[in-house]
Amino acid sequence: MKAYRSSLLYFQHNSDAHQSAIHEEDGLLVVGPNAQGTQVVQAVGPYRDVVARYPQVPVQHLAGRIIAPGFVDLHSHYPQTNVIGSPADGLLPWLEHYTFPEEKRFAAPEYCAQAATFFVAEMLRNGVTTSLTFATSHPASVQALFLEAQKRQLRLITGLCLMDRHAPPDLLNQPSSPGGLDATEQSLIDSEALLKQWHGVERLGYAITPRFAPTSSDAQLRGAGELAARYPDVWIQSHVAENHEEIAWARDLFPASSSYLHTYADFGLLRQRAIYAHCIHFDDVDRALMRDSGAAAAVCPTSNLFLGSGFFDYAGADRADFQYGLANDVGGGTSFSPFHTMLAAYYVGREGQTKAGLSLSPQHLWWQHTAGAAQALGLAGVVGNLQPGCEADFVVLNPKATPLMARRTAQATSLDELLFAMIVLGDDRLVEQTVISQAF
Ligand code: GUN
Ligand code: ZN
Repeated sequence: MKAYRSSLLYFQHNSDAHQSAIHEEDGLLVVGPNAQGTQVVQAVGPYRDVVARYPQVPVQHLAGRIIAPGFVDLHSHYPQTNVIGSPADGLLPWLEHYTFPEEKRFAAPEYCAQAATFFVAEMLRNGVTTSLTFATSHPASVQALFLEAQKRQLRLITGLCLMDRHAPPDLLNQPSSPGGLDATEQSLIDSEALLKQWHGVERLGYAITPRFAPTSSDAQLRGAGELAARYPDVWIQSHVAENHEEIAWARDLFPASSSYLHTYADFGLLRQRAIYAHCIHFDDVDRALMRDSGAAAAVCPTSNLFLGSGFFDYAGADRADFQYGLANDVGGGTSFSPFHTMLAAYYVGREGQTKAGLSLSPQHLWWQHTAGAAQALGLAGVVGNLQPGCEADFVVLNPKATPLMARRTAQATSLDELLFAMIVLGDDRLVEQTVISQAF
């Protein structure tokens, strides 16, 4: 066992109290193995109280630092690191001109390996300890990312990108040998093989990953839904309602479905552990469908602002009471930093401000990238918090990392002021250390 003395930030257990953080100015975090040998939080609270219960445990004193839960990121694309900051008129030309050409390069396993190494290191350097991310349509891209995440002990969920139409031919899922299975059947067989190989191995999980409805045939979506029904504890990830042209295209291709979102429901792809990126242009019927199915939205504010997609409607989501959390959406998104993502979410909350005056609190922003995102993944109490039993993933923040951060945070007279100063001024320099649960 080991203990860390510092200022602590974490969240209430009770999900109804999800917007309120606990701040222990002089706290102690005790970590040690659980019965399975996983390094978890054993105790957390005021230094004076907790140290009395663990007198033998060595304590590392991190003076002036803040320990907070490792960030949970609900949506990104590991093959898109190289397209960050590529401007386009909107989503569809951006995919065509920048994203698809870059993703083609993942046909080469060596290219996958170096991209995976960079991506995992960059997520960890920015304080992300749980990541749900896209790979490409090449099975080797999935293998490379799982291997790297396993090496670095990042908690990672990914899957083979399913695309059997409306993309460049060499980026579509490929058929097996001539005369064998067609591309659609092969993509489903490859998905299941990868799922069996990796899901539940150490900290890794599989996500059934249709890119979005327009690039899959009915048969592929149906097959993906059947796979999801056979493996209820694997995740599903896709995109929905990001951009007006995309929505019109999806409505055209699936006229029998009552909305773009409903297309996924019609193929059995809307359920708990299904995470849909963007969810911007919804009506209340869509919102109720999100809530009733238990699916969750990955809110991607830097991407939505960069690509001009629109603004996630926080008031609408809260009114319908469906789950959501934050995501960097690299490379439509512009940053690996959870601080940049939280700040962009604040801008989005302000822009989408209703007459009632919605403005997101810093505690709520932070929750969306930690305990709230974990809850959306069905991993509440496992990651995203520092309550006893949670995996011991945390960041050590140095609020004096830059002259401006030091000056501004020193003026903070409340928790909200401190969190706001870090959200507005923070980036990778604020993250002094990312500590991962060393489990195996
Ligand atoms: N919709 C389908 N594919 C993508 C993608 O790669 N990025 C974003 N932002 N939206 C998508
Ligand atoms: Zn995306």
